[in-house]
Amino acid sequence: MKNVKNLCCLGCGREHGREGMRYRCSACGENLDVVYDYGAAGGRINRERLAADRNLSIWRYWELLPLSDRRWIMPQQIGWTPLYRTSRLEKQLGLNSVYLKDDGRNPSASFKDRASAVAIAKALELGFETIAGASTGNAASSTACLGAGLGLSPVIFVPRSAPAAKVAQLLVFGARVFAVNGSYDDAFDLCTRACEEFGWYNRNTGMNPYTREGKKTVSFEICEQLGWRVPDRVLVPVGDGNIISGVWKGFRDLRAVGLTDRLPKLVAVQSCLSGAVADAVRSDGPVRSCKATTIADSISVDLPRDGLAAVKAVRESGGEAVTVTDEEIVAAIVKLARLTGVFAEPAGAASLAGLFKLREEGRLEKDETVVFLVTGNGLKDIQTAIKATGEPTLIEPDLKDFIKAWEQQNKNQ
Ligand SMILES: Cc1ncc(COP(=O)(O)O)c(C=O)c1O
Ligand SMILES: [Zn+2]
Repeated sequence: MKNVKNLCCLGCGREHGREGMRYRCSACGENLDVVYDYGAAGGRINRERLAADRNLSIWRYWELLPLSDRRWIMPQQIGWTPLYRTSRLEKQLGLNSVYLKDDGRNPSASFKDRASAVAIAKALELGFETIAGASTGNAASSTACLGAGLGLSPVIFVPRSAPAAKVAQLLVFGARVFAVNGSYDDAFDLCTRACEEFGWYNRNTGMNPYTREGKKTVSFEICEQLGWRVPDRVLVPVGDGNIISGVWKGFRDLRAVGLTDRLPKLVAVQSCLSGAVADAVRSDGPVRSCKATTIADSISVDLPRDGLAAVKAVRESGGEAVTVTDEEIVAAIVKLARLTGVFAEPAGAASLAGLFKLREEGRLEKDETVVFLVTGNGLKDIQTAIKATGEPTLIEPDLKDFIKAWEQQNKNQ
């Protein structure tokens, strides 16, 4: 926190003090962004110190986080997820350098742990006793998981349609769970009203300025894991747009403190059945609400709650938006699993679907270094995966029956 100067509105640029908890700009209602004193932070962080640091988690980047008290660090390992070179995928795509960042390896099995870790630590630092959040599922299960690590029972609002595995996580970690008979957007608005009514800390994506600060750590890791090389392109699945705005913040932070000297192009990957950010990027206009219906529940969002920041991130980076169909997302789950051994939930595989699309349309150079984010583990939603693969062959416990089935399967291969 010593390195934080203030909070700046992403809409009108107005500066707000860093004390207490602020959600949105009091002048225009837009989301806020944490502003750092990069001179001060840069004096305390460098490549040698990081190389010597054995703390392999997001907390190694403490100087670029908006916190002052290490007491609220939870015991689980968050971040420092693997960055894999994917040679078989490279071959299939006809590209020379493709990496995947497997964020399904976080404690609650999604990228959202980066955000929840910082947002929860901030809440406790500010003295809040109750943390609440609405989510398509992952932000909630992450808040519940990391909250449990500190003995907390957060209040959670999820749409009734959230996949069973995510709801199971919430319940097992002991959160107070409310399944809202409505969409994610309904759950979000209800949570916001409840926080106002009861004075609870609101962890909601976009309006809480600290989630972006946790999410940006993925960019720190990507560069460090690449030996401080900055990739040419990073593909990010987008719903509310908070991950992609965090990814952009991370790359800019690194350049600002002198750890790197360039920036990548960002590609926002959305479902064409939930494409509000992509529409805004393409039309050069404002972010407008749509009626989201994609099977990729984590990126099924009517009104992106960090839409302005997401569009800015894509434009400032000189990147683009790409939309993919549900069929392409489901196919990408299977391709990813078979070519890399990583199982992703639909939203997590959307980035790969976007990569195939960009390549097919000739919008990627062969020599570019590309990173795509896998943001959620496939065990979060097995129903969708099984729809793509079909059921296993049922046999009797009998060798003859097996041989018949084996030969039949060989014919179908
Ligand atoms: C697995 C996964 N991927 C992508 C996203 C999209 O992130 P954002 O809503 O910040 O754009 C989410 C958000 O819930 C997610 O859980
Ligand atoms: Zn403003």
